[in-house]
Formats: sequence, C-alpha cells, structure tokens
Amino acid sequence: MRAAITAVGGYVPEKIVTNKDLEKLVDTSDEWIQSRTGIKERRMMPDGSATSDICAEAVSQILAKRKISAEEIDLIIVATVTPDHVFPATANVVSDKIGATNSWGFDISAACSGFLFALETGSKFIESGKHKKVIVCGADKMSAITNYQDRNTCVIFGDGGGAVLLEPSIDENGIVDSILKSDGSGKEFLHQKAGGSLYPPTHETINAREHYVHQEGKTVFKFAVTNMAEVSRAIMDRNNLTGDDVDYLCAHQANLRIIDATARRMELADHKVLINIAHYGNTTAGTIPLLFSDFEKKFKKGDNIVLAAFGGGFTWGSIYLKWAYDSL
Ligand code: UT7
Repeated sequence: MRAAITAVGGYVPEKIVTNKDLEKLVDTSDEWIQSRTGIKERRMMPDGSATSDICAEAVSQILAKRKISAEEIDLIIVATVTPDHVFPATANVVSDKIGATNSWGFDISAACSGFLFALETGSKFIESGKHKKVIVCGADKMSAITNYQDRNTCVIFGDGGGAVLLEPSIDENGIVDSILKSDGSGKEFLHQKAGGSLYPPTHETINAREHYVHQEGKTVFKFAVTNMAEVSRAIMDRNNLTGDDVDYLCAHQANLRIIDATARRMELADHKVLINIAHYGNTTAGTIPLLFSDFEKKFKKGDNIVLAAFGGGFTWGSIYLKWAYDSL
C-alpha cells in the first residue's frame, strides 16, 4: 500500500522584508542578493508567534479543504530547526492548537531536508496500515535564529512553511521511492553552535552571537550543487524516468543557481522547475510544502513529481511521487 498526499496547505506571515530593507541593516545590495540567490523578499513572523503558528494555519487549511475534523488525525510530524521550545515537541503544540485530540506526534530535525525526512517517516505509518490520516508539516521561523548583523546569512532566510495530509492511496499514485542521506562530518559548515547540550546558553555564548545560524556559504554551495543533482538523477535512473517523464521538480529553495544545476542534471525543461524563492527566500523545512501550496493547481493526478533537498547536517535526498489528485 502506498501513502499519497491528498491535501496541502501553506502559510507565510504578512510582513515582507525586501532586499532594500536589508540594505539598511548590513553592507549588501538588492543587485548582489538577486544575482547570487534569486531572492527579492522574504516574510517575517511577528514577535510572540512561533513555528507552531505556521503549522496550525497550514493544517487548518487542509481540514477546511477536505472537510475533516481534527479528531480524525492519527499522527502529526513537524520538520523544523526552529521548534517553539527545545521540548516539548512542536508537534504537541500544533496538536493542541488545532484540537487533534486523538493524535500523537513528534518533531524531526534535518534542517533543509527536514520535510523529505518527515514525509518518508509519515509514509511508513500509512504503509504499515496502522494509521489512516497523517499530517506532515515543514515549517521554520528562521528570523528567530538569524543574525541581522551578518550579511552572509541574513539575506537568505525567511519565515514560512506548509503541511500535507497523507492517506492510503486508492490506486498506484502516491510516494513511490526515496533516497535519503546524511553526513555529520559537514556539521561545522552550517549549524547553530550554542543552545544545545554541548554549549548550553551562557552570557558568553550570547555575546558571541552563537545562537544564530552560522553558514560557510561557498562550501555548502559546492556540496549542495553536487549532492542534490546527483541524488535527483539517481532516483530518476532507478525508476527509469527521463527528463520527459518528470512533470515537475520541487526542489528546496536555497539558491536559484543550485536549483538550476539540479534541473540541468535531470535534463528538465524550464517550465517543469517550480520556483518561488524570489518571494520567500529560504524557509528551511518550509520550502517544499510551500511549493506544493503555491503550485497545487498545476498538478494533475498521475503527474510524476521529484522532490529534492540539501541542508545542514549535512542532510540531503530525493523523493519520487505520483500526484494523487486533480486540485479542486
Ligand atoms: O539551505 C540549505 C543549504 N544552504 C545552501 O544551499 C546555501 C548555499 N550557499 C549559497 O547559496 C551561497 O554560497 C551564498 C548565497 C550564501 C553566497 O553566495 P556566493 O556566491 O557563494 O558568495 P561568497 O560567500 O563566495 O561571497 C562572495 C563575496 C565575498 O566578498 P569577497 O570576499 O569576494 O570580497 C562576500 O563577503 O560576496 C560577499 N558577500 C556579500 N556581498 C554583499 C557575502 N554576502 C554578501 C551580501 N551582500 N549579502
């Protein structure tokens, strides 16, 4: 039995932060940001809000679209690196916010590959026959861990995310295959140094601004280009798919140049490459569900869709799925 995505929801906050706004904070330019990343603007959550609010909004859309009640949900998985708290899990908070009183849940930490790792995990609970309705969220309030004095990172990240409903497929459509990878030796190039058990918060860690994202962009870029392209090509080859057979690529939105390199390796026509990075920047675990929600109307039942991501950890991977419904 396959697990199929049967509904999607996405949410970004109203506040827009443009490249011009960031020019006032750090030594950067709209021209540099657009030409190096493809980003024009990103969204920012208000103070007092959290990642669970993004998820709750996205899940509420799904419940309304499908006219199902929160009590019918069996399991909620949240992929995020910006949980509301270290514990309890954000999934618990989401469950409480939406009234999913019959569900259990947990968080997955795999940075920008988080949604892929969570989708794979959620699909196994459907395939086992144990659960009928699983919610998988990918969301991040990156503004909570972004250093707005560091031009290397603050121009890239934004807040937002989305969710999908997984149910047992009634035909051959659904999640077909996955290749997921991780390599902890890459951790120093992209991480949040302090705040965990190794470097608990102290005045020193705060003064050294170690509770923010640190990224060595050039190194991460090289690994991202190579690994995301390779894994996407590998999943095509082992499922006998050519560039003509693939209908859409939904790739993690970290940098337009990384997405282009992946699409070239997959030999995809431009119109098959879904892109919304210009408006949201890199929302970490949020990018792929946000693509689903923005482009849902394009998808037709049976479409071959390849998902791909690369992120901190390092983590990366690709999932091949056949879209399970025509959007309403
Ligand atoms: O999401 C998960 C994984 N993350 C990624 O996939 C991100 C991968 N990395 C990237 O997308 C790119 O490396 C960045 C967008 C982060 C940076 O682009 P780049 O073309 O690799 O730039 P760079 O880091 O090599 O920096 C080139 C120059 C440097 O100046 P010098 O040393 O050549 O004088 C930087 O200091 O650009 C400078 N620079 C900036 N200039 C203006 C770095 N950030 C900025 C900025 N504005 N915001």
